[in-house]
Amino acid sequence: MRIVVGITGGIAAYKAPELVRLLKKQGHEVRCAATEHALEFVTRTTLETVSQNPLYCDLFASGRTEHISLKDWGEMLVVAPATANIIGKVASGIADDALSTLLLAFSGKPVVMAPAMNCEMWAHPAVQRNIETLKGWGIRMVGPEEGELACGVSGVGRMAEPDQIAAAICSSQQPAVSGQRWLVTAGPTYERIDSVRFIGNYSSGKMGFALAQALADVGAEVELVTGPTALDVSSYQHIKIHRVESAREMYAAATELFPQCQGAILSAAVADYRPAETADHKLKKNGTEGMTLELVQNPDILATLGGMKTDGQTLVGFALETDNEEANAQHKLEKKNLDYIVLNSLRDKGAGFGVDTNKVTILGRDGSRTESPLMSKQDIAKLIVQEVTS
Ligand code: PMT
Repeated sequence: MRIVVGITGGIAAYKAPELVRLLKKQGHEVRCAATEHALEFVTRTTLETVSQNPLYCDLFASGRTEHISLKDWGEMLVVAPATANIIGKVASGIADDALSTLLLAFSGKPVVMAPAMNCEMWAHPAVQRNIETLKGWGIRMVGPEEGELACGVSGVGRMAEPDQIAAAICSSQQPAVSGQRWLVTAGPTYERIDSVRFIGNYSSGKMGFALAQALADVGAEVELVTGPTALDVSSYQHIKIHRVESAREMYAAATELFPQCQGAILSAAVADYRPAETADHKLKKNGTEGMTLELVQNPDILATLGGMKTDGQTLVGFALETDNEEANAQHKLEKKNLDYIVLNSLRDKGAGFGVDTNKVTILGRDGSRTESPLMSKQDIAKLIVQEVTS
């Protein structure tokens, strides 16, 4: 992996070169990014020598947007030590130096932090609130440990040892889904009225296809059941695509595939109702009278899979809401026997149907709650996959 090691200004920074050395020994490529204060504790020469790469510490030095190129280069960002200051900055969205700017740019990719500070600082409600915020965004914390601190007192605040941090990085590298088969549903369903008309919705399939690709990228075998979409499927790789049109066809495909799968993420916008009768010709206008269409209910695919689910299978649903969002999503999570539900609200600008971005809250059956900022659907998909498979 290409790993960026971020170093901030705490005494534990003296252990950062050892972490870099261990990561290099494990075969990773490493580049370092440090705050100005970190360089009070560890030198540029040391970091450049152990990483065998130039150090990034000055936002303006190169005159280029290095925080973006480093973000594009890195597959993971590890901040060790992470001071109360950098934790607070990221939680508040502050980007005022090289490392904090890189951290904000790194959204959608895995970030690990190894906090280190005095025990009173660690226990401060502001720090604890910030830690919860970062965890809620999917940032993984390693430590801190309990022990003797540099200030002479004992308590919780000591940075985890470099070998523990390296081991945590190594374990997060092994995707739990590698080799597993996952089912994904995407797109809208079309419910035929006659040979030229249907009841449909605005789903483009972008969210579901991004999920399928994110699962395939971490080694899963993906069965994607999709309603009609205009997406160019040639840009999606290692995904088996099953095309369907109606909710009943999607139901048939999903219920057949699910028993062979370790997990399923149902992001399709399935029509709850279909016309009771379908004409096999084009219905003609009949005088000036209006027309009444009788609708009957479609099967609920997600609830059916919830009923079929066995131990060891993970079932993830979506909830598209416009009001009482979280309460409604929580109700669906329980009623449909899900492990996770991904809530997106049409009240959030840039979220939901058709657009390239989304903003979600992932609620777990175990009470976990992860809220994302507005991100590309690809980055949202990676976050969902990371959340539901770890
Ligand atoms: O395709 P895009 O343009 O990228 O848009 C993405 C999206 C907005 C469609 C997606 O993010 C999303 O929210 N999908 C779920 C839409 C939806 O139908 O939500 P719901 O709250 O009505 O349904 C809840 C869950 O039950 C969903 O997982 C849905 O797939 C499932 N369901 C619903 C009805 C039904 N008959 N069978 C089902 O399986």
